[in-house]
Amino acid sequence: MAEYICLLNKDTTVIKPAKKTPILLRMIVLMFAMVCGVYICSVCLKQTSIHSKIKFQDIQVVERLSPDDDHGNLQISSVHYPNPETFSRAECAHNPVRYFAILSMQRSGSGWFETLLNSHVNVSSNGEIFSVLDRRRNISSITRTLDKVYNLDWFTSASKNECSAAVGFKWMLNQGVMQHHKEISDYFNRRGVFAIFLFRRNLLRRMVSVLANSYDRHAKLLNGTHKSHVHSTEEAKTLAKYKPMINSTLLISDLKEVEITAAKALEYFNSTRHIVLYYEDLIKNPAKLKDVQAFLGLPLMELMSRQVKIHKGPLSDHVKNWEDVNKTLNGTAYESFLQADY
Ligand SMILES: *[C@@H]1O[C@H](CO)[C@@H](O)[C@H](O)[C@H]1NC(C)=O
Ligand SMILES: *[C@@H]1O[C@H](CO)[C@@H](O)[C@H](O)[C@H]1NC(C)=O
Ligand SMILES: *[C@@H]1O[C@H](CO)[C@@H](O)[C@H](O)[C@H]1NC(C)=O
Ligand SMILES: *[C@@H]1O[C@H](CO)[C@@H](O)[C@H](O)[C@H]1NC(C)=O
Ligand SMILES: *[C@@H]1O[C@H](CO)[C@@H](O)[C@H](O)[C@H]1NC(C)=O
Ligand SMILES: *[C@@H]1O[C@H](CO)[C@@H](O)[C@H](O)[C@H]1NC(C)=O
Ligand SMILES: *[C@@H]1O[C@H](CO)[C@@H](O)[C@H](O)[C@H]1NC(C)=O
Repeated sequence: MAEYICLLNKDTTVIKPAKKTPILLRMIVLMFAMVCGVYICSVCLKQTSIHSKIKFQDIQVVERLSPDDDHGNLQISSVHYPNPETFSRAECAHNPVRYFAILSMQRSGSGWFETLLNSHVNVSSNGEIFSVLDRRRNISSITRTLDKVYNLDWFTSASKNECSAAVGFKWMLNQGVMQHHKEISDYFNRRGVFAIFLFRRNLLRRMVSVLANSYDRHAKLLNGTHKSHVHSTEEAKTLAKYKPMINSTLLISDLKEVEITAAKALEYFNSTRHIVLYYEDLIKNPAKLKDVQAFLGLPLMELMSRQVKIHKGPLSDHVKNWEDVNKTLNGTAYESFLQADY
């Protein structure tokens, strides 16, 4: 703008010698300079007021994200209002959108949980988008991917329509979350992304599931296709036939490591608005799903999933060297993992 004005002034001085009335011209130049001055001042004033508005909004965001707030205070403010490039928001243009991310670990029920969420007519949870290495190679590719999701420009089979009231995806902690936690939690706080932590209480059952799933990746027990999730009891039985060996030497340290990772994740994101869920609680108490819907500010609905649990019944049925495992955990902090039957 300044350059533009200077050019205009130059033009006037160029014109000057042609005119024969210097006083009148001087008056014109003076007037012009005054008008410009007023204009520049008004532009400056406008910018300062924009700056102060942005600051004010930032402060609001920080306050709203305080984890101490109770559920009653949940407000989806206009800060969450999407600014999509390609997503048509014609019908529900004025519905606010909540951004969320399901932070979890492999074999902790997040696939099942996501199908539950996606059974809600107003939720678009876009799957494990950071399973693709290129999207999490560095923080700038992570940010770019997140922007695309939260600008409602990410399309998957889960993308509903313009009436999504909550948009997110699931993110495994080992897919760059722990590595770039600082930048990611800053991003979450800046854009108002809510974190849904989903963990498993019984880490021994999780370990069995991890081992069985990794075995099936090669063995492909179901007709030569690898399946991480199944939709029928027959398929579940076939997958559960395989009984993994658990290395008892490393068992305790492995369990501890998973426990520490979960605790660290909670600490890293302690300034982000979040809810902590446990797979076992969701299984035992479906009312927990209401908490999730309230957390996301959704109209309450019955949520459903067609997925069938793979490892059912006592764990001793699913581990080859059970006696060994029993002995290793007996008398330790993890002893309860041996009994729990879900
Ligand atoms: C980040 O990763 C992307 C995708 O792999 C790559 O194109 C880009 O050059 C990387 N940027 C930096 C700063 O390393
Ligand atoms: C939920 O989806 C329905 C159907 O698409 C739509 O009519 C309604 O406005 C949506 N509600 C919210 C809160 O977005
Ligand atoms: C397994 O493969 C056979 C032959 O290709 C097919 O007839 C059958 O439907 C398949 N079963 C499942 C569960 O996909
Ligand atoms: C268990 O892990 C340890 C350390 O990696 C290894 O030395 C040992 O051979 C493993 N035991 C079995 C039964 O695989
Ligand atoms: C979050 O964790 C950090 C340590 O990583 C701690 O200093 C801080 O007090 C915690 N904040 C809250 C609100 O718990
Ligand atoms: C479990 O530990 C108790 C003592 O803590 C011991 O008496 C018992 O024999 C142990 N059981 C097994 C299977 O090792
Ligand atoms: C562990 O071993 C002890 C002793 O053999 C047995 O009494 C107990 O039932 C076993 N626990 C489980 C969960 O199998």
